[in-house]
Order: sequence, then C-alpha cells, then structure tokens
Amino acid sequence: MRAVDIIEKKKHGLELNRDEIYFLIHGYTKGEIPDYQMSAFLMAVYFKGMTPAETSNLTMSFVESGDQVDLSEIEGIKVDKHSTGGVGDKISLIVIPLVALAGIPVAKMSGRGLGHTGGTIDKLESIKAFRTELSPKEFIYNVNNYKMAIVGQSANLTPADKKIYALRDVTSTVDSIPLIASSIMSKKIASGAEAIVLDVKVGSGAFMKSLDEAKSLARTMVDIGNSLGRRTVAVITNMDQPLGHEVGNSSEVIEAIKVLSGSGAEDETQVALTIAAHMCVLGGAYDTFDKAYSALKDTISSGRAVEKLKELISIQGGDPRVVEDNSLLPHARRSLEIRAEASGFVNAIDAEEIGVAAMLLGAGRRTKEDPIDFGAGISLKKKLGDQVEAGDVLCILHTDKEDTKEAERKAFEAYTISPMAPEKAPYIYTVIE
Ligand code: URA
Repeated sequence: MRAVDIIEKKKHGLELNRDEIYFLIHGYTKGEIPDYQMSAFLMAVYFKGMTPAETSNLTMSFVESGDQVDLSEIEGIKVDKHSTGGVGDKISLIVIPLVALAGIPVAKMSGRGLGHTGGTIDKLESIKAFRTELSPKEFIYNVNNYKMAIVGQSANLTPADKKIYALRDVTSTVDSIPLIASSIMSKKIASGAEAIVLDVKVGSGAFMKSLDEAKSLARTMVDIGNSLGRRTVAVITNMDQPLGHEVGNSSEVIEAIKVLSGSGAEDETQVALTIAAHMCVLGGAYDTFDKAYSALKDTISSGRAVEKLKELISIQGGDPRVVEDNSLLPHARRSLEIRAEASGFVNAIDAEEIGVAAMLLGAGRRTKEDPIDFGAGISLKKKLGDQVEAGDVLCILHTDKEDTKEAERKAFEAYTISPMAPEKAPYIYTVIE
C-alpha cells in the first residue's frame, strides 16, 4: 500500500476502506509517513468529506493508536459527557455529583485547558490539595463506592489524534466536521465510555458559529457513537455569551456550588440538568428524560446535590469546607471595573473575546507550560438583553497582574450596546439522539 494512492483516492472523493485508513493513520503516528503526505490527506478530507463508515474507521484508528482504559471492574453502564468547548463552561463540575447521586457511575477523564480559561481539571485544582491524579485502583474504587471520580487524561490516549491535531492546527484543516468528530469521539471511546452525552456548543464562544454547522457536527458524532456500539446523544446549547456570570477557575467552582445549592444562574442550571438527565437515561436510572430531569432537580432542592460535591472534594483529598466558605478558594488581589460608555441594551457579548481577556489576566494558558492563576477571571455583571446606563459596570476583571491594558480593551470591546434589545435565544436549541 502507498500513501500517495490513498491521497489520490480521497482527492477524487472515493471511499477509503478500513485498511487504507489504518495504514495511513498508524504509519503517520509511527513516523513512517511524513507530515507533507498527511497534510495533503487532511486537506483532501477537508474538501471531499468522509462517509459515515470512513469516519467510524478513522475514529477507531485513533482509539487503537494508544492505550484504552479498561473500566470493566466498574459496575453499571459507564456514561461520559463531553463539551465541544465554551467560555465559563463549568457544566462537568455540576453534572458529576448529580449523575453519581442517581447511581450512575461517572468515571471522568478530563483534559487541561489551553487558550481561553482552564479545563475542568484546572478548575478543580483551584481547591487546595484536590488530587487529579489517582492510581487506576483508587479511581475504580472511588467509582464503585461513591459513583464518581475524576482524573486528568492519560498521556498515551489517542496519540494519533494528538499528532494529527497539531498538524491540523498549522495546515488550516481544524474546521472539518469528520476530523473534529472522530477526534472527539476517539478520546471518549479510548477513555472507556459505554454511553456518551455530547454538549455541542454554538455561538460566538464556540467552535461552531452556526446552528446548521453544530447540527451537522452533532449528527456525525452521534452516528459514530451509535455505529461503534456506544449510545450517544447530543444536546446543542447556546454559547453566544459565556455561561453563567463567572469566567475563571476558582470563580467557576463557586458558581458550580451555587447551581448545586439551587441558587445558580438559569442558563447553566438548565444546561447542566439537561446533560445530566440524558446521562441518567442512557445509564438506565430513569426511563424518560422528564422523570430524570425532575428527580435531579429534587436532589438540588433537597441539598443532597451540594453534599455530593463535598463528598467528591473530600475523597480526592481537597478541603470540602470550600463549599460553605468560598473565601478558602484563591482570589485575585486586584479588581478592575469595565464600564459602559453608552446607554441601551447589551446586544452582543463576544464570548471568545471574554475568554481571551480572562486568559490574559492569568486564568488560562497560552502554552502548555504556562501556570494558571486560579483566582484570575472575569465576573459578568451584565448579560445579553440587560439594560445599561452609560457608566454602569459591564464586568469586573480579577487579576494579580499589573499590565491589564489589553485585557481591559478586549473585555470592553466584547460588549455591544445598542438601542434595541436582542431577540431572546434559547439556552438549549435541540437534542439529537
Ligand atoms: N476538540 C477536539 O478534541 N478535537 C477537535 O478536532 C476539535 C475540538
């Protein structure tokens, strides 16, 4: 087999078989196929797309390029969730205790964030002494006994995807639906998920800027999951502005605590309950979405949900008192108010710009090696549709940094104030099953 023949076939839009895909992907991972041939292949996929069978084979070629986590010692259906990424996205922190309370095992592997704000692991590490590295034995013990555990992703998970993702980044081939879908699904499958709920975000702070694109990505991922024997549901959610009011690490933990205590923002409460309810149905705890949703809501109002979060913090070595006493979490030394210059309504908030501003304040990483300042971030005081008077505070920047000019400019420019209020968009657009 020759790489050039496979590229030629894809260039003409012909369907590749399993052997051809494996030859190319594993050859590239081992260094036997050079970057220039893989680049040409990726560009051919970008223009010609992939059939559902090709996309499933590509996913499995990524999965089989590295370690596969064995969760067979965990009782019950292992349901995972994945978000395609947004700003202020603390949904996993809320969902883990909720789903665990319903008796569904949550064996969560999460990545660290790069760009924007931190990932779920970074957010949890803002809790002093919280351990995100557990031995496989302890991980499985915790899931079997408490129905939940969360660890950072193992280094050798889907190495083919890691190498190809880096190449896509510099060859303008990131935004290809079959490539994104197989990249995401391969990581979930290699982590041992038996059923998957996807939170596909759409809007100014998301990968997918239009609802049609988001639906197409969601459909492709659901088809991959189902064709590979993993029941998969995708919920398409709004990312036209950051979720909730806080963007940062410790501040997002505090906001997650609020949702679990019943006093959280409406958008993230609804999104978290929806994702968690679908996970509960896939895991077999409830036979309908409505029953699951209402039972999960009850766990919040009864106080059990926030107690479960305390348990998660405690079993992973953190101090559960942070739940009652937020001052035990890191806070930044400086606060800067960003004020409106005109009166009107908040017509748009560029979530990506808010994310980048938060990163500049120290809440995210520019490179993998950058440390995170857990107390840095942005509090949004005005959100879409809110009325503002000139001089009102739009948001507050939190940081220890001295030079904040660029972050201030970005946060200010992220807001569009106009005489008209925008049309209200739903928090959840649709569900693809
Ligand atoms: N996230 C991933 O993991 N892979 C992609 O290709 C895009 C987003």
